[in-house]
Amino acid sequence: MIPIKPASAASASSAPKDVQHYMREGSLQFAALPPLSLYVHLPWCIKKCPYCDFNSHEMRAAEMPEQRYIDALMADLEASLPLIWGRTIHSIFIGGGTPSLFSPEAIDRLLGGLRARLRLEPDCEVTLEANPGTFEKDRFKAFRGAGVTRLSIGIQSFNDNFLQALGRVHDRKQALAAVEEAAQAFDTFNLDIMYALPGQTLADLKADMATALALKPPHISIYHLTIEPNTYFAKFPPVIPEEDMAYDMLDLITEMTGDAGLHRYEVSAYARDGHRCKHNLNYWKFGDYLGLGAGAHSKLSFAHRVVRQVRFREPALYMEKALAGHCLAQDEEVSRADLPFEYMLNALRLKDGFGLQQFSERTGLAITAIQKGLEEAERKGLIERDFSRVKPSVRGFDFLNDLQALFLPAIGAK
Ligand SMILES: C[S@@+](CC[C@H](N)C(=O)[O-])C[C@H]1O[C@@H](n2cnc3c(N)ncnc32)[C@H](O)[C@@H]1O
Ligand code: SF4
Repeated sequence: MIPIKPASAASASSAPKDVQHYMREGSLQFAALPPLSLYVHLPWCIKKCPYCDFNSHEMRAAEMPEQRYIDALMADLEASLPLIWGRTIHSIFIGGGTPSLFSPEAIDRLLGGLRARLRLEPDCEVTLEANPGTFEKDRFKAFRGAGVTRLSIGIQSFNDNFLQALGRVHDRKQALAAVEEAAQAFDTFNLDIMYALPGQTLADLKADMATALALKPPHISIYHLTIEPNTYFAKFPPVIPEEDMAYDMLDLITEMTGDAGLHRYEVSAYARDGHRCKHNLNYWKFGDYLGLGAGAHSKLSFAHRVVRQVRFREPALYMEKALAGHCLAQDEEVSRADLPFEYMLNALRLKDGFGLQQFSERTGLAITAIQKGLEEAERKGLIERDFSRVKPSVRGFDFLNDLQALFLPAIGAK
């Protein structure tokens, strides 16, 4: 899972700034900085899926420049260290692309390099995204040995017909084998599943969910297939289930996961007690994150400002720039006017919502910045609140876009 994207990365380089630039006086006031996590992007896949708009590029495993890429990540981290000086890392997420294409030895070197340069919390969650098509016996155990604590497996479906329609490189048998080994090697893991697939019926989804739940995953992320611009599916759109059918599918998912003891704690995330994803929770609670790697996004707070950065997207260019000491394509301060919406875009995705005090702690703004939006949302029955917390109502959760839109900055306010 990747945080909500700000404006797309510019192609021009952003000149490196001295750390004093970020520390100077500004209009926000942070009493303390939020928790910090680390995202590492590994940008290669065996084959590009027709629905995918992530920063992923086709590459044969044997040709992947593993060592050079890790050198670039380390150079990227070292250039970023002054911006996070003295702060502890609470979680690490190695995402992609297909990070499990990297050898366990390379992941071991990567995590060793991070540990040598950063202070990690003792029970730091370390997630690695894995694809069943890159699975071979004992590979997941070796990732565990390298220090990965949580695996997130891109299953999508257990049905060979849908896997084929999605252009996946794996089949049902490989998906089942991958989950079996993940369950043996890890105390906690996630399955990524997609629904509203081309030609999928309610009965098909029920069978897929039953297979997934029988494997007793501690966490499932379930995404409605979206047709993203600039993908193969955008050019040649498949016929996907109508909106009403998709709502029935979501009801079925919520019912089946609930019966299996997995609780929906975020729009797309379901977990057993004690297995929520710390890393993603930090995004939704508007925590800070440093993103390393091609196209990675960062959000970093300083005493008087919040900054967003984007690294160069194309892997070869990223490596060249990172090794030369500056790989930022974008480096911008989030405006005061945009902060309330950015916060609400994330926090309202959580079933339990947020504490009013946390809004101020994470944005550096007074609660009055969202007062009007909250009043309107309450009038429309989209939130429930008391003196200390706000959470989306059942209706607000169903119509999340409408709820979030109430917090958009007024035109001309920026
Ligand atoms: C970066 S991928 C992660 C792992 C790995 N690359 C894979 O696909 O197996 C993250 C997840 O986002 C979901 N996803 C990607 N594109 C999507 C789309 N267009 N619509 C819905 N979900 C999507 C998939 O469930 C995918 O597993
Ligand atoms: S494997 Fe994952 S990241 Fe790679 S192309 Fe497919 S969906 Fe995108």
